Amino acid sequence: MESQPHSQQRTAKVIAFANQKGGVAKTTTALNLAVAFQETGHRVLCVDMDPQGNLTMSQGIDPDTVEESMYDVLVHDMPIRQVIRKREIDVACASIDLAGAEIAMSAKIGRERSLQKALNVVAEDYDFVCIDTPPSLGLLTINALTAAHKVIVPVQCEYLSMRGLIQLQNTLQMIRENLNPDVEIEGILPTLMDTRTVHAKEAIEILEENFGDRVFASRIRKTIRFAEAPVKGMSVLKYEPNGVAAQSYRDLAQELLAKPSMGGVPIVVPTTTDQEVAAPHVQ
Ligand SMILES: Nc1ncnc2c1ncn2[C@@H]1O[C@H](COP(=O)(O)OP(=O)(O)OP(=O)(O)O)[C@@H](O)[C@H]1O
Ligand SMILES: [Mg+2]
Repeated sequence: MESQPHSQQRTAKVIAFANQKGGVAKTTTALNLAVAFQETGHRVLCVDMDPQGNLTMSQGIDPDTVEESMYDVLVHDMPIRQVIRKREIDVACASIDLAGAEIAMSAKIGRERSLQKALNVVAEDYDFVCIDTPPSLGLLTINALTAAHKVIVPVQCEYLSMRGLIQLQNTLQMIRENLNPDVEIEGILPTLMDTRTVHAKEAIEILEENFGDRVFASRIRKTIRFAEAPVKGMSVLKYEPNGVAAQSYRDLAQELLAKPSMGGVPIVVPTTTDQEVAAPHVQ
């Protein structure tokens, strides 16, 4: 068996966060999971593929004043390193003009693969690339799904928002047939959970009936901290490091890192030997 490659030689695992429904915590999940990965010593890039630029803003960067952005990467093949800014994690920024990228790319040959091509160049620089997508299944999301190894689908715990998953699955099937045969849903993440309501519990039951163990064991509860942190240009892990909100994304990171499908990033839990326990405590 081959030995585990050193982290410097590893190729990034690319995860897209997608759901065509708006406001289900795609951006919140992409950013906070990315920061949780970073906390465990991984090198992480976030790519903001949403013209709303919420992820970019959540790291304190104003998409209205960004001059070089993912627009240039996708439309003009600008090297992605040129649009990466270093914040809590590295961010490949969106700008307001990303809204025009779908039309600008429409006549381009290989338009679905622009992001994949751009990411190939930095694949050795990162352990994880987290791509935030807009609430639609247009060319920007198709680029993300084509570049991705895995898809994480945040879902609000409501019956109606779960119906949209079928449409996402159909799009993924089309992507697999034409562009990226191996892309798959890594997991479905129940978000914005109001643990007090029966409806939220029922919604999770329906999710589990339909998607079985593809529903993550981690759940993200509703708390105002998630709305507060982006205003300060921070992840919740930085905004309130010891809070429940931060912990929920750390738990999700651990759940993912433990999966064999996330390959090559084992968690090393230090074991305590009897000898160490018996050793005298030196200050
Ligand atoms: N667990 C949570 N509890 C409370 N509020 C949350 C939670 N997660 C996200 N939010 C808030 O809900 C709103 C929508 O979240 P977010 O922007 O992450 O969703 P989205 O799916 O990326 O939306 P869009 O489709 O518009 O891109 C934001 O104001 C965010 O701060
Ligand atoms: Mg978003």
